[in-house]
Amino acid sequence: MINEMAVQGSAFYSVDFDKVRYIKNGIFCVNDKGYIDGVYEEGDEDYSLIRLKYLEKGKLKVLSDTEVMLPGFVDLHIHASQWPQAGLALDRPLEIWLGEYTFPLESRYRNLDFANEVYRDVVSSTLKYGTTTALYFATVDREPSVLLAKICGELGQRGLVGKVAMDNPESTPEFCRDNSPKEAINETEAFIKEVLEIQDLYKQKVYPVVTPRFIPSCTDETLEGLGKLAKKYDAHIQTHCSESDWAHNFAKERFGITDAQALDKFGLITSKTVVAHAPFLEPDDVKLLADKKTTIGHCPLSNAYFANSVLPFKDFSSRGVNIGMATDISGGYSPSMYQAIRQSIISSRMLEDGVDPSINGKNRGRKNSAITLNNALYSATVSGGIALGLPIGKLEKGYSFDVQIVDIEKNIPKFYPEKSEEDILHKVLLLSESSNIKEVWVQGNRVKC
Ligand code: GUN
Ligand code: FE
Repeated sequence: MINEMAVQGSAFYSVDFDKVRYIKNGIFCVNDKGYIDGVYEEGDEDYSLIRLKYLEKGKLKVLSDTEVMLPGFVDLHIHASQWPQAGLALDRPLEIWLGEYTFPLESRYRNLDFANEVYRDVVSSTLKYGTTTALYFATVDREPSVLLAKICGELGQRGLVGKVAMDNPESTPEFCRDNSPKEAINETEAFIKEVLEIQDLYKQKVYPVVTPRFIPSCTDETLEGLGKLAKKYDAHIQTHCSESDWAHNFAKERFGITDAQALDKFGLITSKTVVAHAPFLEPDDVKLLADKKTTIGHCPLSNAYFANSVLPFKDFSSRGVNIGMATDISGGYSPSMYQAIRQSIISSRMLEDGVDPSINGKNRGRKNSAITLNNALYSATVSGGIALGLPIGKLEKGYSFDVQIVDIEKNIPKFYPEKSEEDILHKVLLLSESSNIKEVWVQGNRVKC
């Protein structure tokens, strides 16, 4: 078969929330559709035979001792259109940052040359950091949003893309809004159809996403229409939810209920929904998300600037909510999911210990809040797959061969005093730069040279 091949080498992947599996010198067989067909470990009866079979066909790729394989990352919340302003104006509050920086930038994508240039750059930049699947916000305009889906397809990333719906004249500027609920709904439906038409042109596929920006930017009619569209097309949904004091209170003042409850009322809380941020979820909201199997897209870096708080990750996940990791370009300034993993751990530890030294240690923090590196890796890989209902995030039979091959010595101090598996994983996750990532594969195709 055309693309059938095997990779021999060592790998890490999350088996569950707490446990990472290390496979030493395994053989990972990949079929022509880009799925893992079988994984063989040293000592398995068939190991040598399988190895020989691929070797003789010239289809065995052997990793060196200084390379390990990790699953590709799933970035569950990223604004492709905000890439040019990554790093800008993060000292402003969210609502000011949106009005003064973000909406003017997002309106520029009507210029398709600009869209083409930026979108190619953001997709290839995130691939370089090992992001093999991304759930993208594009902009309010349909044509450049379809272009983003095409670019993901062409460059080999599994892109799930949303044309942003935003039609509320009270909180969106005229130059960056759908002119009416009808336009928001019709344009979203046309967008879904156009992306479905190109979906299968690419081995890894691309997907349309119903994308109400957030409650403040949408009218009731639009929210209702989008809920119906999501149902009609069984589509993925993404939005922002209870991100900051301001955003959380906005929904409560408008509807007398929380963001999550209001989204649910409009049919926008489903097992295919990702709500970004969500630190201010109230106990009933947490139960709602757990019951509906809705995922939180955790944006730890962005939250440090805009959210006025830290997501109680451990608390929400212990109550049954799936939480995937995200960069939130450009509320978060880094395209690296490694950076998101690091910040999620740092923030959770600060939540646990508390941060104000003038408060007695006993009362300073929120107990049982710190997450481990293993938890964060699971969130950046397996939780993303669960959120999107796709076989991605693990290196097991039946999963898509989406991997990053990492050089574990470049730019990283030599392991001392010993190379335990745990040491290797910690160093890789905490110190890797994009230059450590030597190869990226999506659906069995190599996408970065
Ligand atoms: N809420 C509504 N739009 C946005 C956005 O673009 N970024 C963030 N962080 N929050 C939002
Ligand atoms: Fe966002």
